[in-house]
Amino acid sequence: MTSNLLTVAYIAASALFILSLGGLSNQETARKGNLFGIIGMAIAIIATALSPAVTSYATLAMVVLPGVAIGSLLAARVAMTSMPELVAILHSFVGAAAVLVGFASYLQPDPALTGVEVTIHEIEIFVGIFIGALTFTGSVIAFGKLRAIIGSKPLLLPGRHFLNLAMVAATLWLGYEFMGGNILTGLQSLLIMTAISSILGVHLVMAIGGADMPVVISMLNSYSGWTASAAGFMLSNDLLIITGALVGSSGAILSYIMCKAMNRSFISVILGGFGTGTAKASNTASTPAGEVIATTVDETVEQLRDASSVIIVPGYGMAVAQAQHSVSEITRILRDRGANVRFGIHPVAGRLPGHMNVLLAEANVPYDIVLEMDEINDDFPETDIVLVIGANDTVNPSAMEDPASPIAGMPVLEVWKSKTVIVMKRGMASGYAGVENPLFYKPNTRMLFGDARKNVDAILGRLIQSNEETSQVRVPEKVLANA
Ligand code: TAP
Repeated sequence: MTSNLLTVAYIAASALFILSLGGLSNQETARKGNLFGIIGMAIAIIATALSPAVTSYATLAMVVLPGVAIGSLLAARVAMTSMPELVAILHSFVGAAAVLVGFASYLQPDPALTGVEVTIHEIEIFVGIFIGALTFTGSVIAFGKLRAIIGSKPLLLPGRHFLNLAMVAATLWLGYEFMGGNILTGLQSLLIMTAISSILGVHLVMAIGGADMPVVISMLNSYSGWTASAAGFMLSNDLLIITGALVGSSGAILSYIMCKAMNRSFISVILGGFGTGTAKASNTASTPAGEVIATTVDETVEQLRDASSVIIVPGYGMAVAQAQHSVSEITRILRDRGANVRFGIHPVAGRLPGHMNVLLAEANVPYDIVLEMDEINDDFPETDIVLVIGANDTVNPSAMEDPASPIAGMPVLEVWKSKTVIVMKRGMASGYAGVENPLFYKPNTRMLFGDARKNVDAILGRLIQSNEETSQVRVPEKVLANA
């Protein structure tokens, strides 16, 4: 492939990546966005494989084919709830790749570069390896925390900010040495800097509490983008530079949106130390005032049949129970009966951005009744029933009512303002943030204990049965038995 054709292919791939990001910003266009991304990536890979830079197809096949096999197997097997772990470990690969590319570029310099070009290339190598090593170790620690191999409690060393600053200062000095100082050789400077930035990556992520991990994953996503961009500069590959910048900036924007949704300061999350501490201990120790009132499937169905407005608030528990298909059926039946049924989605419900939207889209819930928190929060006072299915932190009133709560200030779905709230969960366990939830003790809350799938299926069965009784339409025994 000529270099002109390669440039055209890279421009086409870049345009498709931009269209892909645009498509992914909306549920209705997400599938199309995904398709654009796949086509863009296919063009990028094929064009690169056909470029003059590739001289041995045997070597290429030896590295690409096992990668394709392992990647497809892992992606097909991973549960939606384990996706953040997979994303974290994939980010670590990007970081490791940038470090290796950096060392390779340094050890085998391009003879065509002269004068100032050499200086610029060396800066690219130094910065690329620095971000790459930090992303690699930070992502490995994030993976360990999400997998619970490493405790989610933040590691808060005394003087940790000073320690971070000292490491950054040492890196700057090593940069000076690398560029021509006279104490260390270039390779020595690079190796010491790699060790320091690796330690910095570990330290930064170890200092972040479990509750802030979603933001960390998104931040590492951003870092991995900048790492890829740096690798693009080292390899003089325009497509890698553009794609890396797209990933880097979209990851940074997503981190900012998530920080806002969790009422965290962006800088504080990056510097670590949230999701800890004394506030959580004092909060979890005291049981909220009030009484827990349990309800039954029959009572819930009775109330649902009388309700003219219903809001369903799904959370992590719905994902674990895989209850979305039955929830979608319940929605259809209630809407057929004339009720106004909508979904309220918190920006960090579940375990990854858009988790609930993906599940509901998979179950064919119409997009126009799936509303974001800001769009639906004012409607709770006029709502007859709110069904909270496996959500906890995202509907916790202590975020608004208790300044000592570890989640104080986090915007939440104000479900308790509705006439009746039915909470479906297995017991009284706390959610991801480990905080007690006073919602369960409110006088208008009813707890429907048990696995969300079992209860949702039972509700669906009773609704089908009562529909059959009213319309005298026979529903096959098999459908009833399954429900
Ligand atoms: P959570 O607060 O995590 O609560 C989920 C609840 O589901 C639990 O209290 C659990 O109670 C219940 N549950 C679990 N399995 C169940 C089952 N089979 N059937 C019924 N209930 C079940 O969920 P949320 O409201 O979605 O909030 C998300 C939390 O995760 C936030 O704190 C957020 O910051 C954090 N987080 C979010 C993300 C992103 S980006 N979305 C990523 C990582 C972390 P029982 O054990 O009593 O059943």
